[in-house]
This record gives sequence, structure tokens and C-alpha cells, in this order.
Amino acid sequence: MPYAAITAVGHFLPEDRLTNADLEKMVDTSDEWIRTRTGIRERRILRDPNKATSYMATEAARECLRKRGMDPEDVELIIVATVTPDMFFPATACLVQANLGARNAWGFDLSAACSGFLFALSTAARFIESGKHKRVMVIGADKMSTITDYTDRKNCILFGDAAAAVLLEPDPECGVIDSVEHCDGNNWELLCMLGGGSLNPPTHETVDRKMHYLHQEGRSVFKLAVEGMAQVAVEIMERNNLTADDVRYLVPHQANLRIIDATARRMGLSPDKVMVNIDRYGNTTAATIPLCLYDWERQLRRGDNLILAAFGGGFTWGAIYLKWAYDGDKVAAAAEATAETSTENA
Ligand code: ACO
Repeated sequence: MPYAAITAVGHFLPEDRLTNADLEKMVDTSDEWIRTRTGIRERRILRDPNKATSYMATEAARECLRKRGMDPEDVELIIVATVTPDMFFPATACLVQANLGARNAWGFDLSAACSGFLFALSTAARFIESGKHKRVMVIGADKMSTITDYTDRKNCILFGDAAAAVLLEPDPECGVIDSVEHCDGNNWELLCMLGGGSLNPPTHETVDRKMHYLHQEGRSVFKLAVEGMAQVAVEIMERNNLTADDVRYLVPHQANLRIIDATARRMGLSPDKVMVNIDRYGNTTAATIPLCLYDWERQLRRGDNLILAAFGGGFTWGAIYLKWAYDGDKVAAAAEATAETSTENA
């Protein structure tokens, strides 16, 4: 049985930055509070009202294909993890398929909040392992600014917009080695968006009551997230007989630096083995984990052991043990050289 290996990574970040100083002018908060409680300094916001999640997802997928030198027509399946689809239906994956010109691909969206990318990667891996598909695009994309109430200081400081994509292909040795997934809907109301669905379809009242914004009971979610993410990350290490020395990087969902630090401590990992970019992008929900892979690509070598871990609304949580499949420095350098040449020729 082949493993499902990541063979390319792409990303999209909007240019506009929303800094802590900007937020100080919008709500009663301070840069100091935000930094010490969350680790966030700034986030990116897609201001253009005509561009939605599918736009960011398409750009990330395009970069991924460009880096791999692959034609969109070679993609067989597209999975988009998101809680901010362009619309209920059609699925954002269909819009991405059309934008890319991936005319041989089918696709669907996957909704698991901050665990979305992890669940999508796990799902996609099964299609590669079974031999059903050879090229699967997995995208994490969220335009969180569209469901964020910028008068609610507890939540508006947390989220940002972004997308990142990975391509999965079969490999005899490297790829997704193991995965653990959980969900528990018992405390769903601690983190949800109440309005717009079949329970509370849109009315003037749902809008007036701000039910189309993300609602989160931060303190309660924090406790569950610390416990859930650490527990699942340790579980996947133990069942694969991995010690802290065996792990090259923890790739954690970026919700709060304190949750990430607690998880790393429980795993016995030193800070240099933890991917952290929450300071620059905030919580981009489904995009955080692939965005980390993109940012750290140069440091990654074939055979490196990575532990991916996430916790999010639902509640949903899980971990993946992934063996990285390529030397990232060469790929990143080649992509940079191509980008420079095309800029010179423009
Ligand atoms: N600026 C200043 N003060 C603030 C702010 C702010 N932006 N927000 C809240 N406060 C105040 C509160 O009013 C409270 O004051 P009080 O003690 O007088 O009542 C105090 O700061 C502490 O508030 P807490 O909510 O207890 O703060 P906490 O330390 O828990 O941090 C946070 C809040 C950052 C939201 C944290 O709880 C957290 O990260 N939770 C988990 C988030 C998470 O992992 N979510 C899952 C993924 S998201 C997804 O799936 C879409």
C-alpha cells in the first residue's frame, strides 16, 4: 500500500494587515493584552468584497501546481476544508475546480472548523492509499473576517484570512503514516455560528442578534483545547513509538500560543521544534497547518517526522504522524527562481 505523501505546498495571504495597534482603535483592547494572551501581533484581511474563500483557495492551489510543474488537468480530487465557503452550495471545491481548469477532478468541502485541514488530509490520504487516486489537492481556506464581529473584543483579535494547499501523491516510504481523529458534539454551543443554517435561517432578527458571527466562550474552549491537542499529540507519538528526539517538528493549529506551548511541553519538545507563525497571521482556521508547512518548507528534508495536531469547533480534534517526502530547500529555491524570472520578463 503506498503512503499519501505531500509533494508540493502553496499559499495565499491577502496583502492588507490588521495589526494590534489597528484593533486598539476599534475595540477596548491593547497590544500588550493580545500579545501576552494569544501571541498574535497582526493578521491578514481580504478586504475586496468580491473575493471570497474560493479565490484564496484557487491562488494557493495554483502556486502548489506551479511548484510541482503539474497541469491542473492532472488533479483527480479537490478537497477544500473551510467554515467560510463562498456560499452553502455549490461547494467551494467546485468553484476552485472551475477556476483552476481542473476538468478531470471531482471535489467536495469538508467542515471541521480548526481541525478542517487535518481531517481533510486524513480523508484524502485514504484515496491515495487505496489506489483510487494518484493526485489529490487538499486546501485549507477561510475568510474569517466575514464571520467576525469587529465590535466583540474577545473574538475579533483572534482571526485572520488565508489559504494554503498541499498536493498528495503516492510514495513507497514517506507520507501519512498514522492519524487519530475525534469529535464530540456535546459542547457544540461553546464555539459555533448560530445563524444562517436550517436551525436559524436568516431573518432580520438573526441579523439584529448578530447570529451570523462566530460565537466563542474563550475560557471554556481554551481548557478543552489545551487538553485535547496535547492528549492526541502524545497519543500518536506513543502508538508509533516516537520519542521527542524522533520528532523533527510539531505542526500545531495556531489558535493561541499558550495552547501550542502546552502541547509542545507535554510532548517533551523544545521550542525550536515547533512551527509557530500565529504572531503574523492569527488564527486562519483551516489554513493554519498548511501555512506552517509552507513557511517551514525550506527547513524540511525527506524522511523528517512531523506531528500535525489540531483542535476546533464541534468539538473536533486530531493528530497526524507524517513523514515528509522531499527536500524543501531545493523546491523553494526553484520556485523563487521561477518567480524572479517571470517578474523580470513581465
Ligand atoms: N482585550 C482586553 N481584555 C480582554 C480582551 C481583549 N481583546 N478580551 C477579553 N478581555 C478580558 C475579559 O473581559 C476578561 O476580563 P474580566 O476578567 O474582567 O472578566 C479578561 O480579559 C480575561 O478573559 P478570558 O476570556 O478569560 O481570557 P483568556 O485568557 O481565556 O483569553 C482567549 C481569551 C484568547 C480567547 C482564549 O480563551 C483562547 O485562546 N481560547 C481558545 C481558542 C481556541 O482554541 N479555539 C478553538 C479553535 S477556533 C475554531 O475552531 C474556529
